[in-house]
Amino acid sequence: MTRPRTTVIALAAGLLAAAGSFVVLSPADAASTLGSAAAAKGRYFGTAVAAYKLSDSVYSGILNREFTSVTPENEMKWDATEPTQGSFNYSSADTIVNRAITNGQKVRGHALAWHSQQPGWAQNLSGTALRNAMVNHVTQVATHYRGKIDSWDVVNEAFADGGNGARRDSNLQRTGNDWIEVAFRTARAADSTAKLCYNDYNTDGQNAKSNAVYAMVQDFKARGVPIDCVGFQSHFNSASPLPSDYQANLQRFANLGVDVQITELDIEGSGTAQANSYAAVVRACLAVTRCNGITVWGIRDTDSWRASGTPLLFDGSGNPKAAYSATLTALGATTDPSTSPPTSPSTSPSASPSTSPSTPSGSGCTASVSVNAWTGGFVATVKVTAGATRLSGWTVGLTLPSGSAVSNTWSATASGTTGAVSFTNVAYNGAVNPAATTEFGFQGTGTAPSTTPTCTAR
Ligand code: G3I
Repeated sequence: MTRPRTTVIALAAGLLAAAGSFVVLSPADAASTLGSAAAAKGRYFGTAVAAYKLSDSVYSGILNREFTSVTPENEMKWDATEPTQGSFNYSSADTIVNRAITNGQKVRGHALAWHSQQPGWAQNLSGTALRNAMVNHVTQVATHYRGKIDSWDVVNEAFADGGNGARRDSNLQRTGNDWIEVAFRTARAADSTAKLCYNDYNTDGQNAKSNAVYAMVQDFKARGVPIDCVGFQSHFNSASPLPSDYQANLQRFANLGVDVQITELDIEGSGTAQANSYAAVVRACLAVTRCNGITVWGIRDTDSWRASGTPLLFDGSGNPKAAYSATLTALGATTDPSTSPPTSPSTSPSASPSTSPSTPSGSGCTASVSVNAWTGGFVATVKVTAGATRLSGWTVGLTLPSGSAVSNTWSATASGTTGAVSFTNVAYNGAVNPAATTEFGFQGTGTAPSTTPTCTAR
Protein backbone atom coordinates (compact mmCIF):
# COMPACT_ATOMS: atom_id res chain seq x y z
CA MET A 1 0.00 0.00 0.00
CA THR A 2 1.52 3.31 -1.01
CA ARG A 3 1.52 5.91 1.74
CA PRO A 4 1.16 9.56 0.81
CA ARG A 5 4.50 11.22 0.48
CA THR A 6 4.79 14.85 1.39
CA THR A 7 7.97 16.62 0.51
CA VAL A 8 8.67 20.23 1.09
CA ILE A 9 11.18 21.76 -1.24
CA ALA A 10 12.58 24.75 0.49
CA LEU A 11 13.80 27.48 -1.73
CA ALA A 12 14.92 30.96 -1.70
CA ALA A 13 14.60 32.53 -5.05
CA GLY A 14 14.44 36.13 -6.05
CA LEU A 15 15.22 36.94 -2.46
CA LEU A 16 17.21 40.11 -2.12
CA ALA A 17 19.25 40.48 0.99
CA ALA A 18 17.99 43.69 2.48
CA ALA A 19 20.22 43.93 5.48
CA GLY A 20 18.50 45.27 8.50
CA SER A 21 15.12 45.53 6.83
CA PHE A 22 12.22 44.77 9.11
CA VAL A 23 8.61 45.20 8.21
CA VAL A 24 6.08 46.09 10.84
CA LEU A 25 2.64 45.07 9.65
CA SER A 26 0.00 47.72 9.93
CA PRO A 27 -3.47 46.58 11.03
CA ALA A 28 -4.59 46.71 7.41
CA ASP A 29 -1.83 44.29 6.47
CA ALA A 30 -2.38 41.89 9.33
CA ALA A 31 -4.40 38.74 9.02
CA SER A 32 -8.01 39.81 8.85
CA THR A 33 -10.04 36.83 7.74
CA LEU A 34 -10.65 33.44 9.32
CA GLY A 35 -8.71 31.74 6.56
CA SER A 36 -5.71 34.03 6.55
CA ALA A 37 -5.50 34.12 10.35
CA ALA A 38 -5.63 30.32 10.49
CA ALA A 39 -3.06 30.09 7.68
CA ALA A 40 -0.68 32.19 9.73
CA LYS A 41 -0.93 29.42 12.33
CA GLY A 42 -0.38 26.70 9.72
CA ARG A 43 -4.02 25.61 9.69
CA TYR A 44 -7.07 25.84 7.47
CA PHE A 45 -10.42 27.33 8.39
CA GLY A 46 -13.25 25.73 6.44
CA THR A 47 -16.99 25.54 6.10
CA ALA A 48 -19.63 23.14 4.88
CA VAL A 49 -20.99 24.26 1.51
CA ALA A 50 -24.29 23.52 -0.20
CA ALA A 51 -24.06 23.61 -4.00
CA TYR A 52 -27.48 25.15 -4.46
CA LYS A 53 -26.50 28.19 -2.40
CA LEU A 54 -23.46 29.15 -4.49
CA SER A 55 -25.55 31.47 -6.67
CA ASP A 56 -26.36 33.54 -3.56
CA SER A 57 -23.81 36.36 -3.76
CA VAL A 58 -23.82 37.07 -0.02
CA TYR A 59 -23.11 33.39 0.65
CA SER A 60 -20.43 33.01 -2.01
CA GLY A 61 -18.87 36.34 -1.08
CA ILE A 62 -18.32 35.23 2.52
CA LEU A 63 -17.17 31.81 1.32
CA ASN A 64 -14.52 33.32 -0.96
CA ARG A 65 -13.36 35.87 1.56
CA GLU A 66 -13.19 33.91 4.80
CA PHE A 67 -12.61 30.21 4.17
CA THR A 68 -9.63 28.17 3.01
CA SER A 69 -11.31 24.76 3.01
CA VAL A 70 -14.73 23.48 2.00
CA THR A 71 -16.72 20.34 2.79
CA PRO A 72 -19.68 19.48 0.56
CA GLU A 73 -22.53 19.30 3.09
CA ASN A 74 -24.57 16.62 1.28
CA GLU A 75 -23.31 16.39 -2.30
CA MET A 76 -20.71 13.62 -1.85
CA LYS A 77 -22.89 11.32 0.20
CA TRP A 78 -23.84 7.91 -1.15
CA ASP A 79 -27.41 8.91 -2.08
CA ALA A 80 -26.11 11.90 -4.04
CA THR A 81 -23.20 10.26 -5.89
CA GLU A 82 -24.67 6.83 -6.67
CA PRO A 83 -28.46 7.25 -6.79
CA THR A 84 -28.75 4.11 -8.93
CA GLN A 85 -26.37 1.21 -8.34
CA GLY A 86 -23.36 1.52 -10.63
CA SER A 87 -24.49 4.86 -12.05
CA PHE A 88 -22.56 7.78 -10.61
CA ASN A 89 -23.57 11.43 -10.53
CA TYR A 90 -20.88 13.89 -9.52
CA SER A 91 -22.40 17.08 -10.88
CA SER A 92 -23.19 18.94 -7.64
CA ALA A 93 -20.06 17.75 -5.86
CA ASP A 94 -17.90 18.63 -8.88
CA THR A 95 -19.33 22.15 -8.83
CA ILE A 96 -18.18 22.60 -5.24
CA VAL A 97 -14.82 20.88 -5.68
CA ASN A 98 -13.79 22.64 -8.89
CA ARG A 99 -14.84 26.01 -7.54
CA ALA A 100 -12.81 25.40 -4.38
CA ILE A 101 -9.72 24.38 -6.31
CA THR A 102 -10.01 27.45 -8.53
CA ASN A 103 -10.13 29.59 -5.39
CA GLY A 104 -7.17 27.85 -3.76
CA GLN A 105 -9.32 26.21 -1.08
CA LYS A 106 -8.76 22.70 0.26
CA VAL A 107 -11.55 20.14 0.03
CA ARG A 108 -12.65 17.74 2.76
CA GLY A 109 -14.51 14.81 1.22
CA HIS A 110 -17.64 13.79 3.17
CA ALA A 111 -18.48 10.92 3.44
CA LEU A 112 -17.64 7.64 1.66
CA ALA A 113 -19.28 5.04 3.95
CA TRP A 114 -22.09 5.93 6.36
CA HIS A 115 -25.21 4.23 7.66
CA SER A 116 -27.27 7.34 6.85
CA GLN A 117 -28.16 9.00 3.55
CA GLN A 118 -27.76 5.77 1.64
CA PRO A 119 -29.67 5.45 -1.63
CA GLY A 120 -32.73 3.24 -1.40
CA TRP A 121 -31.10 0.41 -3.35
CA ALA A 122 -28.24 0.22 -0.83
CA GLN A 123 -30.60 0.34 2.12
CA ASN A 124 -32.19 -2.78 0.68
CA LEU A 125 -28.91 -4.71 0.35
CA SER A 126 -27.20 -6.86 2.96
CA GLY A 127 -24.32 -9.26 3.38
CA THR A 128 -21.83 -9.78 0.55
CA ALA A 129 -23.90 -7.78 -1.93
CA LEU A 130 -23.81 -4.71 0.33
CA ARG A 131 -20.11 -5.20 1.16
CA ASN A 132 -19.26 -5.38 -2.55
CA ALA A 133 -21.43 -2.36 -3.28
CA MET A 134 -19.67 -0.37 -0.55
CA VAL A 135 -16.22 -1.33 -1.87
CA ASN A 136 -17.22 -0.34 -5.39
CA HIS A 137 -18.70 2.94 -4.15
CA VAL A 138 -15.57 3.87 -2.19
CA THR A 139 -13.36 2.90 -5.13
CA GLN A 140 -15.31 4.85 -7.72
CA VAL A 141 -15.80 8.04 -5.71
CA ALA A 142 -12.26 8.16 -4.28
CA THR A 143 -10.85 7.53 -7.75
CA HIS A 144 -13.00 10.25 -9.31
CA TYR A 145 -11.66 12.81 -6.83
CA ARG A 146 -8.07 11.53 -6.62
CA GLY A 147 -5.67 14.46 -6.35
CA LYS A 148 -8.37 16.94 -5.36
CA ILE A 149 -9.15 15.95 -1.77
CA ASP A 150 -7.12 17.03 1.24
CA SER A 151 -8.89 14.66 3.66
CA TRP A 152 -11.67 12.10 3.23
CA ASP A 153 -14.19 11.16 5.88
CA VAL A 154 -13.90 7.52 4.87
CA VAL A 155 -16.23 6.22 7.56
CA ASN A 156 -18.73 8.37 9.39
CA GLU A 157 -20.49 7.78 12.72
CA ALA A 158 -19.92 4.03 13.07
CA PHE A 159 -20.08 3.93 16.88
CA ALA A 160 -23.20 3.91 19.05
CA ASP A 161 -24.08 6.52 21.62
CA GLY A 162 -24.47 5.38 25.18
CA GLY A 163 -22.16 3.90 27.68
CA ASN A 164 -20.84 0.69 26.26
CA GLY A 165 -18.63 1.81 23.37
CA ALA A 166 -20.30 -0.60 20.95
CA ARG A 167 -20.47 -0.26 17.22
CA ARG A 168 -23.66 1.27 15.88
CA ASP A 169 -26.01 -1.31 14.47
CA SER A 170 -26.45 -0.72 10.73
CA ASN A 171 -26.66 -2.66 7.50
CA LEU A 172 -22.93 -1.97 6.99
CA GLN A 173 -22.05 -3.21 10.49
CA ARG A 174 -24.03 -6.37 9.86
CA THR A 175 -21.77 -7.18 6.88
CA GLY A 176 -19.03 -7.89 9.44
CA ASN A 177 -16.99 -6.01 12.02
CA ASP A 178 -14.15 -5.52 9.52
CA TRP A 179 -16.24 -3.23 7.28
CA ILE A 180 -14.48 -0.12 8.59
CA GLU A 181 -10.96 -1.31 7.86
CA VAL A 182 -12.07 -2.61 4.47
CA ALA A 183 -13.38 0.87 3.67
CA PHE A 184 -10.07 2.46 4.69
CA ARG A 185 -7.94 -0.03 2.73
CA THR A 186 -10.17 0.47 -0.30
CA ALA A 187 -9.93 4.25 -0.06
CA ARG A 188 -6.14 4.11 0.18
CA ALA A 189 -5.92 1.85 -2.86
CA ALA A 190 -8.03 4.30 -4.86
CA ASP A 191 -6.37 7.52 -3.66
CA SER A 192 -2.96 7.47 -2.04
CA THR A 193 -2.85 11.28 -1.86
CA ALA A 194 -5.71 12.14 0.49
CA LYS A 195 -5.58 11.85 4.26
CA LEU A 196 -8.06 9.22 5.40
CA CYS A 197 -10.17 10.14 8.43
CA TYR A 198 -12.65 8.49 10.76
CA ASN A 199 -15.33 11.08 11.65
CA ASP A 200 -17.87 11.08 14.49
CA TYR A 201 -19.90 13.16 16.97
CA ASN A 202 -20.12 12.94 20.77
CA THR A 203 -16.48 11.91 20.71
CA ASP A 204 -15.26 15.42 21.55
CA GLY A 205 -14.40 14.62 25.16
CA GLN A 206 -13.24 11.43 26.82
CA ASN A 207 -16.21 9.09 27.15
CA ALA A 208 -17.16 5.52 26.32
CA LYS A 209 -17.74 6.36 22.66
CA SER A 210 -14.49 8.25 22.15
CA ASN A 211 -12.65 5.53 24.08
CA ALA A 212 -13.99 2.98 21.61
CA VAL A 213 -12.87 5.09 18.63
CA TYR A 214 -9.50 5.55 20.33
CA ALA A 215 -9.13 1.78 20.70
CA MET A 216 -10.01 1.29 17.04
CA VAL A 217 -7.44 3.85 15.87
CA GLN A 218 -4.82 2.32 18.15
CA ASP A 219 -5.59 -1.11 16.69
CA PHE A 220 -5.50 0.21 13.10
CA LYS A 221 -2.11 1.85 13.68
CA ALA A 222 -0.76 -1.35 15.25
CA ARG A 223 -1.96 -3.51 12.35
CA GLY A 224 -1.10 -1.11 9.54
CA VAL A 225 -4.67 -0.33 8.53
CA PRO A 226 -4.33 3.02 6.70
CA ILE A 227 -5.78 5.81 8.84
CA ASP A 228 -4.33 9.32 8.90
CA CYS A 229 -6.77 11.43 10.84
CA VAL A 230 -9.75 11.56 13.16
CA GLY A 231 -12.53 14.10 12.70
CA PHE A 232 -14.33 15.52 15.72
CA GLN A 233 -17.65 16.91 14.55
CA SER A 234 -18.12 19.23 17.53
CA HIS A 235 -21.85 19.95 17.36
CA PHE A 236 -22.43 21.70 20.67
CA ASN A 237 -25.53 22.94 22.48
CA SER A 238 -26.79 23.08 26.06
CA ALA A 239 -27.50 19.35 26.09
CA SER A 240 -24.10 18.57 24.64
CA PRO A 241 -21.75 21.41 25.62
CA LEU A 242 -18.08 21.86 24.79
CA PRO A 243 -16.36 19.38 27.12
CA SER A 244 -13.74 20.67 29.53
CA ASP A 245 -11.29 17.99 28.37
CA TYR A 246 -11.70 18.84 24.67
CA GLN A 247 -8.02 19.73 24.12
CA ALA A 248 -6.81 16.74 26.13
CA ASN A 249 -9.01 14.46 24.06
CA LEU A 250 -7.68 15.87 20.77
CA GLN A 251 -4.16 15.47 22.11
CA ARG A 252 -4.55 11.84 23.15
CA PHE A 253 -5.69 10.95 19.63
CA ALA A 254 -2.81 12.95 18.12
CA ASN A 255 -0.46 10.99 20.36
CA LEU A 256 -1.57 7.83 18.54
CA GLY A 257 0.12 9.21 15.41
CA VAL A 258 -2.89 10.59 13.55
CA ASP A 259 -3.86 14.13 12.65
CA VAL A 260 -6.97 15.55 14.26
CA GLN A 261 -9.48 17.86 12.61
CA ILE A 262 -12.53 19.71 13.86
CA THR A 263 -14.94 18.86 11.11
CA GLU A 264 -18.50 20.14 11.69
CA LEU A 265 -18.28 22.82 14.35
CA ASP A 266 -21.41 24.64 15.40
CA ILE A 267 -22.32 25.95 18.85
CA GLU A 268 -25.91 26.87 19.64
CA GLY A 269 -26.40 30.10 21.56
CA SER A 270 -25.63 33.78 21.19
CA GLY A 271 -23.54 36.64 22.48
CA THR A 272 -20.61 36.28 24.81
CA ALA A 273 -21.26 32.70 25.89
CA GLN A 274 -21.28 31.47 22.31
CA ALA A 275 -18.26 33.62 21.45
CA ASN A 276 -16.30 32.24 24.40
CA SER A 277 -17.01 28.66 23.35
CA TYR A 278 -15.86 29.30 19.79
CA ALA A 279 -12.67 30.90 21.11
CA ALA A 280 -12.06 27.91 23.38
CA VAL A 281 -12.38 25.50 20.45
CA VAL A 282 -9.90 27.54 18.43
CA ARG A 283 -7.42 27.68 21.30
CA ALA A 284 -7.67 23.92 21.76
CA CYS A 285 -6.90 23.26 18.10
CA LEU A 286 -3.98 25.71 18.10
CA ALA A 287 -2.58 24.01 21.21
CA VAL A 288 -2.49 20.60 19.51
CA THR A 289 0.26 20.50 16.90
CA ARG A 290 -1.48 17.82 14.85
CA CYS A 291 -4.79 19.70 14.72
CA ASN A 292 -4.86 20.59 11.01
CA GLY A 293 -7.81 22.93 10.98
CA ILE A 294 -11.39 23.76 11.83
CA THR A 295 -14.50 23.45 9.68
CA VAL A 296 -17.74 25.13 10.71
CA TRP A 297 -20.94 23.41 9.56
CA GLY A 298 -22.32 26.24 7.45
CA ILE A 299 -21.79 29.96 6.93
CA ARG A 300 -24.83 31.92 8.18
CA ASP A 301 -27.15 30.88 11.00
CA THR A 302 -29.86 30.41 8.40
CA ASP A 303 -27.67 27.91 6.52
CA SER A 304 -27.41 25.62 9.54
CA TRP A 305 -29.12 22.25 9.96
CA ARG A 306 -29.91 23.68 13.42
CA ALA A 307 -30.90 27.17 12.23
CA SER A 308 -33.14 27.88 15.22
CA GLY A 309 -30.13 27.52 17.51
CA THR A 310 -28.22 30.30 15.67
CA PRO A 311 -25.03 28.24 15.96
CA LEU A 312 -22.74 29.79 13.32
CA LEU A 313 -20.40 32.77 12.88
CA PHE A 314 -22.54 34.98 10.61
CA ASP A 315 -26.14 36.05 11.10
CA GLY A 316 -28.83 35.47 8.51
CA SER A 317 -27.87 38.65 6.69
CA GLY A 318 -24.23 37.65 6.50
CA ASN A 319 -23.00 40.02 9.21
CA PRO A 320 -20.20 38.72 11.45
CA LYS A 321 -21.37 37.90 14.97
CA ALA A 322 -19.54 38.23 18.29
CA ALA A 323 -18.57 34.60 17.80
CA TYR A 324 -16.79 35.60 14.58
CA SER A 325 -14.75 38.30 16.33
CA ALA A 326 -13.85 35.93 19.14
CA THR A 327 -12.81 33.24 16.68
CA LEU A 328 -10.65 35.66 14.73
CA THR A 329 -9.03 36.97 17.89
CA ALA A 330 -8.37 33.44 19.16
CA LEU A 331 -6.73 32.67 15.83
CA GLY A 332 -4.32 35.50 16.57
CA ALA A 333 -5.58 38.14 14.17
CA THR A 334 -4.65 41.65 15.17
CA THR A 335 -7.54 43.55 13.62
CA ASP A 336 -10.76 44.11 15.48
CA PRO A 337 -13.61 43.15 13.18
CA SER A 338 -16.13 44.67 15.58
CA THR A 339 -14.83 48.10 14.60
CA SER A 340 -14.36 47.28 10.93
CA PRO A 341 -16.63 44.47 9.84
CA PRO A 342 -15.39 42.67 6.76
CA THR A 343 -17.79 44.05 4.22
CA SER A 344 -15.30 44.40 1.39
CA PRO A 345 -16.03 42.76 -1.96
CA SER A 346 -15.14 39.11 -2.12
CA THR A 347 -11.58 38.13 -2.81
CA SER A 348 -9.92 34.79 -2.82
CA PRO A 349 -8.80 33.78 0.63
CA SER A 350 -5.56 32.57 -0.85
CA ALA A 351 -4.85 36.09 -2.02
CA SER A 352 -5.75 37.69 1.26
CA PRO A 353 -3.01 39.27 3.28
CA SER A 354 -1.67 37.11 6.03
CA THR A 355 1.18 37.34 8.42
CA SER A 356 4.21 35.23 7.81
CA PRO A 357 5.61 33.00 10.51
CA SER A 358 9.05 34.38 9.75
CA THR A 359 10.19 37.97 9.72
CA PRO A 360 9.95 39.20 6.14
CA SER A 361 13.14 40.50 4.64
CA GLY A 362 14.17 41.59 1.18
CA SER A 363 11.92 42.42 -1.74
CA GLY A 364 10.84 40.02 -4.43
CA CYS A 365 9.29 36.71 -3.48
CA THR A 366 10.08 33.18 -2.47
CA ALA A 367 8.26 29.97 -3.29
CA SER A 368 8.06 26.53 -1.75
CA VAL A 369 6.51 23.38 -3.10
CA SER A 370 4.79 20.63 -1.22
CA VAL A 371 4.20 17.45 -3.18
CA ASN A 372 1.84 14.53 -2.79
CA ALA A 373 3.09 11.80 -5.10
CA TRP A 374 1.98 8.35 -6.08
CA THR A 375 3.27 5.94 -8.68
CA GLY A 376 2.82 7.72 -12.00
CA GLY A 377 1.51 11.04 -10.78
CA PHE A 378 1.56 13.87 -8.27
CA VAL A 379 -0.15 17.00 -7.05
CA ALA A 380 2.06 19.97 -6.20
CA THR A 381 0.93 22.86 -4.02
CA VAL A 382 3.11 25.94 -4.38
CA LYS A 383 3.17 28.69 -1.78
CA VAL A 384 4.34 32.13 -2.95
CA THR A 385 5.52 34.46 -0.19
CA ALA A 386 6.11 38.16 -0.75
CA GLY A 387 9.23 39.80 0.63
CA ALA A 388 9.21 43.23 2.20
CA THR A 389 7.59 44.86 -0.81
CA ARG A 390 4.02 44.34 -1.97
CA LEU A 391 3.84 42.18 -5.08
CA SER A 392 1.64 43.16 -7.98
CA GLY A 393 2.34 39.91 -9.79
CA TRP A 394 4.63 36.89 -9.68
CA THR A 395 6.05 34.10 -11.78
CA VAL A 396 7.29 30.79 -10.39
CA GLY A 397 9.66 28.63 -12.43
CA LEU A 398 10.14 24.90 -11.97
CA THR A 399 11.95 22.18 -13.87
CA LEU A 400 10.09 18.91 -14.20
CA PRO A 401 11.96 15.61 -14.42
CA SER A 402 12.26 14.03 -17.83
CA GLY A 403 9.06 12.19 -18.67
CA SER A 404 6.89 14.28 -16.35
CA ALA A 405 4.20 16.69 -17.54
CA VAL A 406 1.76 19.20 -16.09
CA SER A 407 -1.80 18.03 -16.72
CA ASN A 408 -3.89 20.52 -14.77
CA THR A 409 -3.22 23.86 -13.04
CA TRP A 410 -5.35 25.90 -10.64
CA SER A 411 -4.98 29.47 -9.36
CA ALA A 412 -2.15 30.17 -11.86
CA THR A 413 -1.54 30.13 -15.61
CA ALA A 414 1.01 27.58 -16.72
CA SER A 415 3.47 28.15 -19.54
CA GLY A 416 4.82 24.87 -20.89
CA THR A 417 3.95 21.40 -19.71
CA THR A 418 7.33 19.62 -19.71
CA GLY A 419 10.89 20.49 -18.76
CA ALA A 420 11.23 24.10 -17.61
CA VAL A 421 7.71 25.33 -16.89
CA SER A 422 6.53 28.58 -15.38
CA PHE A 423 3.40 29.63 -13.56
CA THR A 424 2.08 33.18 -13.48
CA ASN A 425 -0.56 34.58 -11.16
CA VAL A 426 -4.16 34.87 -12.27
CA ALA A 427 -6.18 38.08 -11.87
CA TYR A 428 -7.19 37.67 -8.26
CA ASN A 429 -3.96 36.46 -6.65
CA GLY A 430 -1.24 38.62 -8.20
CA ALA A 431 -1.38 41.24 -5.46
CA VAL A 432 0.30 39.93 -2.33
CA ASN A 433 1.04 42.18 0.63
CA PRO A 434 4.47 42.20 2.29
CA ALA A 435 5.13 38.86 4.04
CA ALA A 436 1.75 37.53 2.91
CA THR A 437 1.31 34.33 0.97
CA THR A 438 -0.84 32.95 -1.80
CA GLU A 439 -1.04 29.44 -3.18
CA PHE A 440 -1.53 27.72 -6.50
CA GLY A 441 -1.33 24.11 -7.52
CA PHE A 442 -0.87 21.76 -10.38
CA GLN A 443 -1.33 18.11 -11.09
CA GLY A 444 1.14 16.14 -13.16
CA THR A 445 1.94 12.78 -14.61
CA GLY A 446 5.26 11.07 -14.03
CA THR A 447 7.67 11.88 -11.23
CA ALA A 448 7.18 14.92 -9.01
CA PRO A 449 9.65 17.83 -9.29
CA SER A 450 12.47 17.87 -6.77
CA THR A 451 14.36 20.94 -7.89
CA THR A 452 14.19 24.29 -6.18
CA PRO A 453 11.62 26.63 -7.75
CA THR A 454 12.37 30.26 -8.52
CA CYS A 455 10.06 33.16 -7.80
CA THR A 456 10.18 36.43 -9.68
CA ALA A 457 8.19 39.51 -8.69
CA ARG A 458 6.49 41.35 -11.52
O1 G3I B 1 -32.66 18.31 -1.23
C1 G3I B 1 -33.91 17.98 -0.61
C2 G3I B 1 -34.99 18.84 -1.17
O2 G3I B 1 -35.16 18.59 -2.56
C3 G3I B 1 -36.29 18.56 -0.39
O3 G3I B 1 -37.27 19.44 -0.82
C4 G3I B 1 -36.07 18.72 1.10
C5 G3I B 1 -37.30 18.37 1.90
O4 G3I B 1 -36.96 17.92 3.19
O5 G3I B 1 -35.01 17.88 1.51
C6 G3I B 1 -33.79 18.19 0.87
O6 G3I B 1 -32.78 17.34 1.34
C7 G3I B 1 -32.36 17.56 2.67
C8 G3I B 1 -30.88 17.85 2.67
O7 G3I B 1 -30.38 17.95 3.99
C9 G3I B 1 -30.53 19.15 1.92
O8 G3I B 1 -31.06 20.23 2.58
C10 G3I B 1 -32.63 16.30 3.46
O9 G3I B 1 -34.04 16.11 3.60
C11 G3I B 1 -32.00 16.40 4.84
O10 G3I B 1 -32.11 15.14 5.48
C12 G3I B 1 -30.54 16.74 4.72
O11 G3I B 1 -30.03 16.92 6.00
C13 G3I B 1 -28.63 16.83 6.11
C14 G3I B 1 -28.28 15.80 7.17
O12 G3I B 1 -26.87 15.75 7.32
C15 G3I B 1 -28.77 14.42 6.79
O13 G3I B 1 -28.36 13.48 7.70
C16 G3I B 1 -28.08 18.18 6.51
O14 G3I B 1 -28.25 19.11 5.44
C17 G3I B 1 -26.58 18.09 6.83
O15 G3I B 1 -26.15 19.28 7.40
C18 G3I B 1 -26.36 16.96 7.82
O16 G3I B 1 -24.99 16.85 8.03
C19 G3I B 1 -24.61 15.86 8.99
C20 G3I B 1 -23.28 15.31 8.54
O17 G3I B 1 -23.37 14.82 7.22
C21 G3I B 1 -22.79 14.22 9.48
N1 G3I B 1 -22.75 14.69 10.84
C22 G3I B 1 -24.00 15.28 11.32
C23 G3I B 1 -24.44 16.41 10.41
C24 G3I B 1 -25.64 17.13 10.95
O18 G3I B 1 -26.76 16.30 10.97
